[in-house]
Amino acid sequence: MASLRYLPVLIPPPEVPPDLDGTDHPVRAVTREVAADEAFWTPAAAAEMTERFDELAPDWSNRLRPEEFVGLPDACERGKLERSALCLEVGSGTGLGTVHLAAHFRRVIAMDLSAGMLALAPPTLAPRVRADGAGLPLADDSVDVVALINMLLFPSEVDRVLRPGGAVLWFNTLGVRTPIHLPAAQVAEALPGEWGGVASEALWATWCVLRREPLGA
Ligand SMILES: C[S@@+](CC[C@H](N)C(=O)[O-])C[C@H]1O[C@@H](n2cnc3c(N)ncnc32)[C@H](O)[C@@H]1O
Repeated sequence: MASLRYLPVLIPPPEVPPDLDGTDHPVRAVTREVAADEAFWTPAAAAEMTERFDELAPDWSNRLRPEEFVGLPDACERGKLERSALCLEVGSGTGLGTVHLAAHFRRVIAMDLSAGMLALAPPTLAPRVRADGAGLPLADDSVDVVALINMLLFPSEVDRVLRPGGAVLWFNTLGVRTPIHLPAAQVAEALPGEWGGVASEALWATWCVLRREPLGA
């Protein structure tokens, strides 16, 4: 059973909620399926996702509001993510979240499946790498933080590349309305072994920062 501590909300939502409701978006089902069983992620699924985001890329940074990401510094601070950490952001898109990660962490790697999305991310923020989160081109135990912002969860890959003591930062910019959304408890459940940490909300976003629980805790 995950030990999750829900922290008070420091950045409350404005009265008018965003109009997007992604709860029945087709990508929502994929999100649940791959978190539960990575075998759902096939070459055909990867090709379809790549095509989808290559097409969305030119307009992506206009579709999302910059305010959706303002909770990221809060998540980094209250999640106690060290500034000296090497942060791997998977599904970094056009860099809307990378801006905040690069302001917090000393080193960030921005990784995405879609060359179209990556091409539009600012080149100065972080090295950009085209790769599939289902098969990360990184050694075991090689990063301190894996950041997933509106991105699918591939539990065993995240677990493999995170060094002991490392953390997962999970952030959904429109909370339950985000097409790619999982609640904090489901993220913790999906990761191999026992994970716990803190969760909260910021503006419309939901987020959590999780670490492996010590054995026998
Ligand atoms: C909803 S967008 C979010 C982009 C960015 N994080 C943001 O919030 O603006 C999801 C991103 O994840 C990428 N993506 C989807 N599946 C992926 C995978 N298996 N490996 C790496 N990136 C993936 C997509 O190409 C897209 O850029």
